[in-house]
Amino acid sequence: MFTTLSSPKVGLPRDLFGAIADLKRELNAVVLAHYYQDPDIQDVADYLGDSLGLSQQAAKTEADVIVFAGVHFMAETAKILNPNKLVLLPDLDAGCSLADSCPPDAFAQFKAKHPDHLVISYINCTADIKAMSDIICTSANAVSIVRQIPADQPIIFAPDRNLGKYVSEQTGREMVLWQGSCMVHETFSEKKMVQLKIQHPEAEVIAHPECEPAVLRHADYIGSTTALLNYCQKSSSESFIVATEAGILHQMQKAAPNKQFIAAPPVNNCACNECPHMRLNTLEKLYLAMKTRSPEITLPEQTRLAALRPIQRMLEMSI
Ligand code: 13P
Ligand code: SF4
Repeated sequence: MFTTLSSPKVGLPRDLFGAIADLKRELNAVVLAHYYQDPDIQDVADYLGDSLGLSQQAAKTEADVIVFAGVHFMAETAKILNPNKLVLLPDLDAGCSLADSCPPDAFAQFKAKHPDHLVISYINCTADIKAMSDIICTSANAVSIVRQIPADQPIIFAPDRNLGKYVSEQTGREMVLWQGSCMVHETFSEKKMVQLKIQHPEAEVIAHPECEPAVLRHADYIGSTTALLNYCQKSSSESFIVATEAGILHQMQKAAPNKQFIAAPPVNNCACNECPHMRLNTLEKLYLAMKTRSPEITLPEQTRLAALRPIQRMLEMSI
């Protein structure tokens, strides 16, 4: 795992929101945040979005400092796109179970077994995996990117098996799938989902494609976090069962205050639908990161350059 630099000597101001606003001006910083962050962090973000939107923002920002309120692979992507900017992650331990499910050595061996395959990797992977990939995708553009690849070109899709299976079904393309998964999206219970549907027959089920096929088959709509947020605003339905990390409910409730949003239930009676990695970031840590300009994301230049190429291909193919 990564090393967290703590700043025990820096005290916290009474008005964290005001202090963060002051630091944004002082540092010429932009706060980019994912929907799975704590509501407080979402509320101080200059840009809030899904992985595609966040990388597009990172690619075009003119700020000197990027404060990334998300997980490590997201901040790392911002750094790959901005080698000369300071990229801060409030807690360097904010990793990702899906990225961890694809270790570079094992993936190199897997790739070597399929030498004629094009490698499309979901952005939820480390820079080392990106460096071994031809094109990066996110849940927002995976189907479209696979459709742009000539039909006779064999494809490896990594690391998320559920997204890979969903993309295969949507495109009719057989792909070799790396068997990785996200601990949060695999936590939803099909049985409890069906019970919930019986209790709320009027509700639409909306789900992220990282969910297992058993959950996805009950979904009325499947999409990235931004797509889910847009869908629940424009749908005529008044209530939704939401199968993704529970942090997005904050934006859904803000965007459609008169609608009802019900978090899909996990298998156990736990808060497993909250990503423990994302939730390592707090507003306090975000303030401290800005105040102390650490912890910052760094990576070897050779890896950065190799990882940049497939990210740029994704951005070009997503226009
Ligand atoms: P998107 O926001 O791109 O849909 O991704 C969800 C996710 O799991 C991020 O970790
Ligand atoms: Fe990774 Fe899943 Fe958390 Fe997203 S929700 S950061 S895929 S562990």
